[in-house]
Parts: sequence; structure tokens; C-alpha cells
Amino acid sequence: MTVKEFIPSPYTKSVASGNTRYKSPSNIALVKYWGKKENQIPANPSISFTLNECATVTTLSYRKADRPNDAFSFEISLDGKKEEGFKPKIKTFFERVYPYLPFLKEYHFEIETSNSFPHSSGIASSASGMSALALCLMEIERNLDPAMSAEFFNRKASFLARLGSGSAARSIKGSLVQWGEHAGTEGSSDLYGIEYPYKVHSVFNDYCDTILLVDKGQKQVSSTVGHDLMHDHPFSKQRFDQAHANLSKLRSIFEGGDLDGFIGLVESEALTLHAMMMTSRPYFILMKPNTLEIINRIWAYREATKTHVCFTLDAGANVHVLYPKNEKAVVEGFIADELAGYCQNGQFIHDHVGRGAQKIN
Ligand code: PMV
Repeated sequence: MTVKEFIPSPYTKSVASGNTRYKSPSNIALVKYWGKKENQIPANPSISFTLNECATVTTLSYRKADRPNDAFSFEISLDGKKEEGFKPKIKTFFERVYPYLPFLKEYHFEIETSNSFPHSSGIASSASGMSALALCLMEIERNLDPAMSAEFFNRKASFLARLGSGSAARSIKGSLVQWGEHAGTEGSSDLYGIEYPYKVHSVFNDYCDTILLVDKGQKQVSSTVGHDLMHDHPFSKQRFDQAHANLSKLRSIFEGGDLDGFIGLVESEALTLHAMMMTSRPYFILMKPNTLEIINRIWAYREATKTHVCFTLDAGANVHVLYPKNEKAVVEGFIADELAGYCQNGQFIHDHVGRGAQKIN
């Protein structure tokens, strides 16, 4: 599909007002997206597990104005409190998606949003937040064009979410979602995420992810700045090639349930992401001493117990501990006994692979 196919023909219906609500999950990348081109086009393909517990619920109320507004008209609140601070980000998002949602200036919107995870926990809410908002907007478009297929609905929701935050493109549908063109993945696109189209061993269907909150502070480097650092980065070409190669390797790992292969690839991806930040100009170290303590504990525990626990990282100090469900009891014990002490206020969140966003009535 091309960008043009997301520009709608004149709508067949008109709607005066209404409201819609979606719950949309966060996701954790296994092959990381780091670096982008113009218009939120990823510099390399990525793939993620969709999460289940870490999610955003957004309610969008809309009312048609007497005549089209000159500017976007909206209010936004988080957990029932007006959030003026979020407005610039939403305004930028509306500007980017306006060519694809021409009704945006015809309505006044009230956006009410809440996250299941603690605010400022260091867990990025942009993937769940932007995908939830994109889905609500698509629901309005479906009311204006009821003939729209479910497939197009999801695809365009991902396309719009991507324009808000790249990783949000992977938070619409499916347990394992790939975003970005990759020669080995049929149907893959830079414009939207797709459900991973190949065979996946059942061990990955209910994989567990416990998020250790090591540093709940404001992100040291915003992802916008981080992506920019990949321009003129001395290792960018090798990194982008590596992401393509890792996606190819994942195919047999997923198919065969090769947990050792999975662990090696996922941990290397996490460390590569951080290595990119350490070797850019300016350079950053986003891990904290406790991040390293946790990684070493995980390695020692894995060696001693022959379990399949491993870690991945986002662009921050928090650690995602990944493990198969049949090791849940022992690994959760290990986390409580040995890792919780390295978390801020002992905080962590048990999550697992989910199935994607849901409409809530
Ligand atoms: O969606 P963004 O622009 O916030 O970028 C997210 C990038 C990482 O979380 C570090 C990796 C990824 O693929 O999710």
C-alpha cells in the first residue's frame, strides 16, 4: 500500500456527535527500532511482543462544530485532570494525520486518557497512548464510512499511530508485530505494523515480561533526539543491516521454539541499542549501576539454574525480564528475592504477551 491509499474519498455518512473508547497496550521490541527517516519512516525493521497489563485507556468524545474550525479544537485530560502539557504533542499529531483524517477540523474533541502503569514510571506511554488515540479516531472514520473493512481499519490505525510515535504502530493487533520493510517478511511495510505472518512456536504465545522499574525519572534522552543521533552515526549502516539479519534469524527461532537462539539475539539487540547511544555524538549512558547489577544477576541465575530468563532494555535504565510461562513460578521467586532490591522503591510490574488493542463499551 502507498500513503495515498490512506487518504479517504468523500465520506458517505455524517455524524453529529458521539464517544468511543479503546484500551491499547504497550509493546516491547525484540529487534529494536532506532533511527528514522522523514515522515516517521523507520531506518530499519523492528518486531515486538505486544504486552497485556501495561496499557492506556482513552475515551474520545466528539461534537461537530457549526462550521469547520481554523485550528484543531481539543481538550486533553489524564486521570481526570486537564493536562495542558500534553497539548503540543497532540497538536503535532493532529497536524501529521490531518491529510488522512480530513474531518479533524470539523469537530471539537475531548480526550480522556489513563494509564494502567504508574505515571512517570519510566515506562513509555507513547506507544499505548498514541495507538489508543489512533483507534478512537479510526472509529469516527468508520462511522463516516461504514463500508470500511476490518483489515483496513487496523492497518490505517497502525499507520496513524506511527505518525504519533513510531513504536505505536506495533500496538494495534497481534501478539508479535513487525513494522518496517524486510525482504524476508511478506507483507511487511514501513507504513504500518503487521501481525507476524509465519509460524510461531506455542512457547512464545504466552511469554512473560516483568518490568523492573530501576529509574522512574524523566527520560534523559527523548526518543526523538535518540533517533536523530543515528544520522551520521559511525556504525549506523552496520546496525541497520544487523537488524535486517536478526529478523531473518528470528524466523527459525520462532518456528522451532529455539529459546537459546532467542535469548542470544534479544540480549544482543538490547545491548546494541545502548551501544549506539554510547557511540553517538553527543554520547549517553542510559543504564544505571542497578541496570548492570540486574543484568549480571540474570546471567548468573540463568547459568546456575539452566532456566531461560533473559533481559531486554528500552532507551532507559529499566529492565524487561523475559521468560517462558512454564518457568514463571521460579523466575518470579528469583525476581522478588534477588532483583526487586535493585528497583526504585522495590517496584516491578508482571506482564505477559497480549493480543492487541480492544474496543471498550
Ligand atoms: O516510538 P519511539 O519513537 O518512542 O521509539 C521507541 C524506540 C525504542 O523503544 C527504544 C525501540 C523500539 O523499537 O520500541
